[in-house]
Amino acid sequence: MSQHALHLSVNGEPVDANVPARRMLSDFLRDDLHLTGTKRGCETGTCGACTVLVDGRAVKSCLSLAVQAQGTSITTVEGLSDGDTLHPVQQAFLSCGGLQCGYCTPGFMMTSVAFLKENPKPTATQIRSVLNGHLCRCTGYSQIVESVMQAAEHMDGH
Ligand code: FES
Ligand code: FES
Repeated sequence: MSQHALHLSVNGEPVDANVPARRMLSDFLRDDLHLTGTKRGCETGTCGACTVLVDGRAVKSCLSLAVQAQGTSITTVEGLSDGDTLHPVQQAFLSCGGLQCGYCTPGFMMTSVAFLKENPKPTATQIRSVLNGHLCRCTGYSQIVESVMQAAEHMDGH
């Protein structure tokens, strides 16, 4: 299969790669770049576990081709913290018990980060609505909503 040259930024680092036309972004991130924080779940766009930020927008990477990421800036869950300092969204999930097994958590956090940038003072209803495209088998969702509320308070519009 023909290879396509790809140049993009991932978690602030330049990446050059050659990928087959049909390589999914989730597979590229996990298998080629070894960024396994991005999870593969349903691989049909239903569970949200594979969500990453592409130019700041939450995207389900199991539905995107790697070649579509040409020239973009991607953030995965590995790129959220600042060294040892957790991102406020990560810290809030930890403090509020917004995770159990953690499989769904990177996806929830990436969508929450993008959402809070646009909606710094969300209501619980807005949070539930934006997280609609994510599935969690463990938490029952209440702690996840609390986590995003707490992150919003701590970020205070930043
Ligand atoms: S693995 Fe992408 S939405 Fe489920
Ligand atoms: S914490 Fe286990 S699936 Fe969400």
